Amino acid sequence: MNDIMEKDILEVLFTEDQLDRRVTELAEQINRDYEGKKLMLVSVLRGSFVFMADLARKIKHPCLIDFMSVSSYGKGSSSSGQVQITKDLSEDISGMDVIVVEDILDSGNTLSYLLRILEQRHPASVRLCTLLDKPDRRVKPVEVHYSGFTIPDAFVVGYGLDFAEHYRNLPYIGILKPEVYS
Ligand code: IMP
Ligand code: MG
Repeated sequence: MNDIMEKDILEVLFTEDQLDRRVTELAEQINRDYEGKKLMLVSVLRGSFVFMADLARKIKHPCLIDFMSVSSYGKGSSSSGQVQITKDLSEDISGMDVIVVEDILDSGNTLSYLLRILEQRHPASVRLCTLLDKPDRRVKPVEVHYSGFTIPDAFVVGYGLDFAEHYRNLPYIGILKPEVYS
């Protein structure tokens, strides 16, 4: 493992094995719920790219995959209520069964905005699949259909999640040492 990244990690929350097992369970749930349907997976960049790649390969139904990017965090570690689409979908989602794939649900600012925008495009359905949920920090209510793990209020990195664009390539999820971001 990379010592330079490793030294900034306070504690490993989920190992590669734990992540793989939970992602498999989520995919099995989705496979059951979408029997006979054609799915559209929407990944919210950039944090969900690893989760999306693992989840998508465990989904047995035909599916389209598209990406979208929103900004709300900047380079800091606290959320802002201001959300902006910086890259929109390439596909039309009207009439589609959409699952939004997110890395983490925190204040809810990003997803409540995003889900509202997607609903306005008349999909057949929209559900949210988030790998992590930090309910203690919720400011805006968001309905979650598939959730990997509920975590305490700590700043986590790895498996796609970043701090200032670093640590995304750690294969596990760990709590970042507070002195790194304070
Ligand atoms: P929200 O709008 O506050 O719900 O924030 C959602 C976004 O904030 C996520 O998609 C992440 O990009 C980022 N975020 C929130 N908490 C964390 C964390 O603990 N580590 C890394 N990114 C986070
Ligand atoms: Mg994100």
